[in-house]
Amino acid sequence: MFNEANFAKLSEFIYRKSGIFLEESKHYDKINKFILSRLKDLELDGFRKYFFKLRFEDNDAKEFQELMNAVTVNETYFFREHDQFEVLVNHVLPQLNQIRPKNEPLRILSSPCSTGEEPYSMVLYLLEEAGLIENRDVEIIGIDIDSNVIQKAQDGKFSERSVHAIPPVQVQKYFKKVGMSYQLIDDLVGAVEFKVINIFDRAALRDLGKFDVIFSRNMLIYFDDASKKEVAMNFYDMLKPQGYIFLGHAEYMSRIVSVFKAKKFDNSLIYQK
Ligand SMILES: C[S@@+](CC[C@H](N)C(=O)[O-])C[C@H]1O[C@@H](n2cnc3c(N)ncnc32)[C@H](O)[C@@H]1O
Repeated sequence: MFNEANFAKLSEFIYRKSGIFLEESKHYDKINKFILSRLKDLELDGFRKYFFKLRFEDNDAKEFQELMNAVTVNETYFFREHDQFEVLVNHVLPQLNQIRPKNEPLRILSSPCSTGEEPYSMVLYLLEEAGLIENRDVEIIGIDIDSNVIQKAQDGKFSERSVHAIPPVQVQKYFKKVGMSYQLIDDLVGAVEFKVINIFDRAALRDLGKFDVIFSRNMLIYFDDASKKEVAMNFYDMLKPQGYIFLGHAEYMSRIVSVFKAKKFDNSLIYQK
């Protein structure tokens, strides 16, 4: 039904479309299982038919979406690498607030946002610590290639593990406990706009408009050098002049492209256009 040669074809397709690089030794079993289940659901009698459908008969990109939802790694939690949220509200936004026209909102993109913990962490930090920019509207948009995680982000319902790093007083203030889950209060669920977007889809990125700040944490690590470069340049185009980009702690822009200036605030290294 499915073999190593099929895996090589499919993983090359996935890499070309999404930048995600799957190693056979780590991902074969998972992909094998996924293909067997899709063959059953779609009533197809072999990988060749599936791969044909994926490439040539997937006009609404539904099968591509199924595939993406199966291969992404969505690990995230509230206040992950929390120093960066401190830098955002205490240094970056106040600085941009001074130089941007008074009537414009400051726009932040969380890309990728996974199940929403990163952009909602920004909302909590803004509510708790944003005295310096209190007269300024802030617009936060979260995007991810995986439609399942975007649905979860829109629902605003989180696990115990997901909220473990939030101070208990804030958990009490901003969440309702529903069974074993933590439901974000209604007012905050609408505070972030979420969209399913592939970071290589330049037309969809252009439609989002320009941003003052982009968080792109813990996605580039899954890409090879060529894809990292392409994404970094997409972000460069999406940033307004003097806008900032935040990467994950294990990611360094200076190893990818040289168009950004590295800046240190407290202990966080971030990058300015
Ligand atoms: C580990 S999560 C990071 C979430 C969050 N930024 C954080 O640091 O906690 C990585 C996310 O990247 C998303 N992703 C992978 N390739 C993508 C692509 N080509 N376009 C958009 N999102 C992508 C995955 O769906 C996954 O949700």
